[in-house]
Amino acid sequence: MRVLGIESSCDDTGVAIYDSNAGLLSQALHSQIVVHQEYGGVVPELASRDHIKWVVSLVKKVLQEANLAVNDVDAIAYTAGPGLIGALLVGACFAKSFAWALKKPAIAIHHLEAHILAAKLDNPHLDYPFLALLVSGGHTQLILARALNDYQLLGDTLDDAVGEAFDKTAKLMGLPYPGGAALSQLADDCPEALKNKLPPFPRPMTQKPGLNFSFSGLKTHALVLWHKIKERERAPSMIAHAFQEAIVETLVMKCKRALEQTHVNNLVVAGGVGANRLLRSSITAMGVKMGKTICFPRHEYCTDNGAMVAYAGCLHYLDGRDDEEQSIVVKPRWALSK
Ligand code: KG4
Ligand code: ZN
Repeated sequence: MRVLGIESSCDDTGVAIYDSNAGLLSQALHSQIVVHQEYGGVVPELASRDHIKWVVSLVKKVLQEANLAVNDVDAIAYTAGPGLIGALLVGACFAKSFAWALKKPAIAIHHLEAHILAAKLDNPHLDYPFLALLVSGGHTQLILARALNDYQLLGDTLDDAVGEAFDKTAKLMGLPYPGGAALSQLADDCPEALKNKLPPFPRPMTQKPGLNFSFSGLKTHALVLWHKIKERERAPSMIAHAFQEAIVETLVMKCKRALEQTHVNNLVVAGGVGANRLLRSSITAMGVKMGKTICFPRHEYCTDNGAMVAYAGCLHYLDGRDDEEQSIVVKPRWALSK
């Protein structure tokens, strides 16, 4: 069976077609970075309008690339939440109307579940139960995935999400939105001799038991330091390096703790920050030490994309689920665990 997936929860319009036998047939993505860059963050109304502008042409493109007619698609999956209400409504209205016109089922997908399941796109044999570290612009969570549709939230951020902390720290040093990847590049490029010149950033909430996170203090720490040392040569690189080290070490410590507590053997790292090089190498090293299997979606499946929605839709449809509701419902806030 073939599922058309539509992602529009934030600032990327992602569309893809997944075939349960042949795998991913085609995918297309339109990023809104240029639309939001001059405002330094996502402007929800502009995001909705841009999704409207792009969704139909992207659907045509993926159908054409997969050499399919509209009726060759068996179901239409769409991100129903969490996310920006207007942006979600664009994808949901399009998907439900299209499904209704074609007399095919529509399947509402949870954005965070799609991020987690993206790891299975390249690793279909990844077995439940597994642990997921979900690190994106809006979320930082440790989740125990017991089965499709059965998730337990083990840890969450009390304030900023990790991607948000990256973006805000990048912004205070004058990097353009969204600065996460650029900040990480600055950190990776920090000359060896300057790497440990700054006093280390704190590793928040690692002294206390538990699996929750807090990253807003690191951002404030970076701000104070920036005002102190910004005239120094390579100051952004030094701050980026110390900041990234603190974030990554904190995430690794919490993952280790969660693996020890749950005794599961597989860890998935999902969401946009999963593209971070230091995070990938540090978690991989931790996995080797602990004898655990670590699974990263490839970079293009870490950030928002249509493939993860089409794939999640396919798994749910094969599991017997479809939207019975005719009405169009989106959930800007939507907990993944029951
Ligand atoms: O999952 P995603 O595409 O969108 C959300 O659902 O939030 O994640 C986007 C986030 C942004 O905050 C972006 O700056 C961050 O992921 N990000 C990175 C890197 N690449 C993307 N953060 C750190 N290092 C990276 N290499
Ligand atoms: Zn996302």
